[in-house]
Amino acid sequence: MPTAGWWEALWPDPAGVLAAVGLKPGMEVIDLCSGDGWFTLQIAKIARHVVAIDIDPALLDVARHRLTESGLTNCDFVAGDAYDLARLVPGPAEFVFMANAFHGVPIGRDLARAVRATVKPGGLFTIVNWHPRPREETMVLGEPRGPGTELRLSPEQTIMAVAASGLKLARMNRRAALSLRRAI
Ligand SMILES: C[S@@+](CC[C@H](N)C(=O)[O-])C[C@H]1O[C@@H](n2cnc3c(N)ncnc32)[C@H](O)[C@@H]1O
Repeated sequence: MPTAGWWEALWPDPAGVLAAVGLKPGMEVIDLCSGDGWFTLQIAKIARHVVAIDIDPALLDVARHRLTESGLTNCDFVAGDAYDLARLVPGPAEFVFMANAFHGVPIGRDLARAVRATVKPGGLFTIVNWHPRPREETMVLGEPRGPGTELRLSPEQTIMAVAASGLKLARMNRRAALSLRRAI
């Protein structure tokens, strides 16, 4: 997880991002690789319920604190590996959100299969990626930020990585967010 300060500068309007990718009031949501809860907080304000999953329990503690401070009680925090999604969550979700993390998952195909098994038919898996630009070009607060250039995935590479799972592209927006739908 990046150090505090520049993340807020990079994502000044997380609620706007969530609205743009189709998060709707009343949804059952999973924030996959949720980190310190920068997006989880906003998801919880909109969704009926959210499960925040991260492999790092210390970051989940920060997220828990963030939501508690805002008086939100509709979030469960689960420490675990995203590949074990089906085991980590009790029931199906309508919306699985994954921001700034897909590039760090070694086998996107296996992760997508786990998501497909967890999302309801008709539900969405939304992946927000860094643009596939050289790292030195993605300056935030005066410094190059984000994953190494070699890790960054184009929309086409991301679609390829999840294709075998049976999830199909529903839409793509200019922020390099892909929404993939489980058809049946
Ligand atoms: C750059 S942070 C993004 C956090 C959050 N999604 C956001 O955009 O604010 C990436 C997160 O992915 C988590 N992560 C990496 N690999 C994971 C895995 N296999 N399972 C669960 N979480 C993982 C890290 O612990 C870290 O919190």
